[in-house]
Amino acid sequence: MAVMEFDDAAAERLESMYLTLDLDAQRQDTMQRLALKPGEHVLDVGSGPGFMCRQMAEAVGPSGRVRGIDLSSVMVDRASNRNSYEWLSYGEGDATALPEDDQSYDVVASVQVAEYVPDTQRLCAEAFRVLKPGGRGLIMATDWDTVAWYTEDRSRMRRVLDAYKPHCAHARLPQKLVPLLREAGFTVDGVSIYAIINLNWDDVCYSPRNVEFMAGYIRGQGTLDEVELQAWKEELRELGALGRYFFSLSRTIFEVSR
Ligand SMILES: C[S@@+](CC[C@H](N)C(=O)[O-])C[C@H]1O[C@@H](n2cnc3c(N)ncnc32)[C@H](O)[C@@H]1O
Repeated sequence: MAVMEFDDAAAERLESMYLTLDLDAQRQDTMQRLALKPGEHVLDVGSGPGFMCRQMAEAVGPSGRVRGIDLSSVMVDRASNRNSYEWLSYGEGDATALPEDDQSYDVVASVQVAEYVPDTQRLCAEAFRVLKPGGRGLIMATDWDTVAWYTEDRSRMRRVLDAYKPHCAHARLPQKLVPLLREAGFTVDGVSIYAIINLNWDDVCYSPRNVEFMAGYIRGQGTLDEVELQAWKEELRELGALGRYFFSLSRTIFEVSR
């Protein structure tokens, strides 16, 4: 089974999910934690649609520099096309072989990317290499074991979640990341949780959007039949209509320094 790749259709589904109120709030939380200052040089590893890079560029201003690196040329093109800041740029690159100089950034961030990268050790080593001594980093990853999604058909929900797990290389990465960060040389300054909780089946919420994203991936893999996928979606929609919808998921945030 394959890790998610981002063609135009997948990029569009990802972007519509990233524009939900939930993920906007998550970006605000990440930005607060990063506390970027004017003039800082910032690297966003796996910058995706570039929505956070834009906010980073606003925070560091023209005396600073923001660089977004992503494996997917589709993502890099889409992010570049909507960029209006001279001090923000995007480039194609792999988190495990960053096309950046040693000790060249004050801040390195990577949000929901590390779980997609098979070689976590190299990812950590590369993030450490490009960070200046005294620099800080933030890595956020989803732990798919933390999903609590109300259903009256738990075995179907389990089959759907199991079929979705291979969309990334490490579905439970947060549970094993701390020693790998320390091995790379980082000091781990804090580990915390950012929870997404949805009580409504509503397009501005993360999980209803993610249902489409998940269904797209699972359909592509052919690991569940369409009737089952549709029944899963229909139940969630009905629970929403009855006011009984509940979804929660935790992201884990690792704040590190060099
Ligand atoms: C879920 S998206 C997160 C995007 C962005 N960080 C955000 O939070 O808006 C994951 C991104 O990681 C990128 N990615 C996956 N593997 C990568 C790798 N080895 N190196 C760099 N980027 C990678 C994907 O192309 C995708 O854009």
